Amino acid sequence: MSREKTKAVLNQSVADLSKAAALVHQVHWYLRGPGFMKLHPKMDELMDSLNSHLDELSERLITIGGSPVSTLKEFDELSNIKLETATWDKTTEARLTEVVKAYKYLSDLFQDGVHATDEEDDDVTNGLFADAKGDIEKTIWMLESELGLAPGL
Ligand SMILES: [Fe+2]
Repeated sequence: MSREKTKAVLNQSVADLSKAAALVHQVHWYLRGPGFMKLHPKMDELMDSLNSHLDELSERLITIGGSPVSTLKEFDELSNIKLETATWDKTTEARLTEVVKAYKYLSDLFQDGVHATDEEDDDVTNGLFADAKGDIEKTIWMLESELGLAPGL
């Protein structure tokens, strides 16, 4: 089976995880104010996790005969995550809210991946998407708790 839907969601994930990592890097650099000492290293942890899913999903795409996007231009064109030029006037709350929004998008995307892999009978990729979704959802819970919100999934 050619698994075209699975390959498409995998490549979408490569672009979106690359862009999400850039967004989290921006937050890591541009944080200013209360919570900096704990949130600055936390963003490093989130980036490591995004990059780990990125590598896993990209290599799975290659394993099943696909070709991952790999240039900054392709990431930017394909990704649905917005990334604006940073300014110093944004609150930490606003920055974390942007990260939550990106993570909720990733959670939905990985759900699309779960459906596509079910349909195309690819249990291995299905497991990767399910694991990535679980990790993303747990992070959404933590970020929303930091923001004083109940998990909004
Ligand atoms: Fe750093």
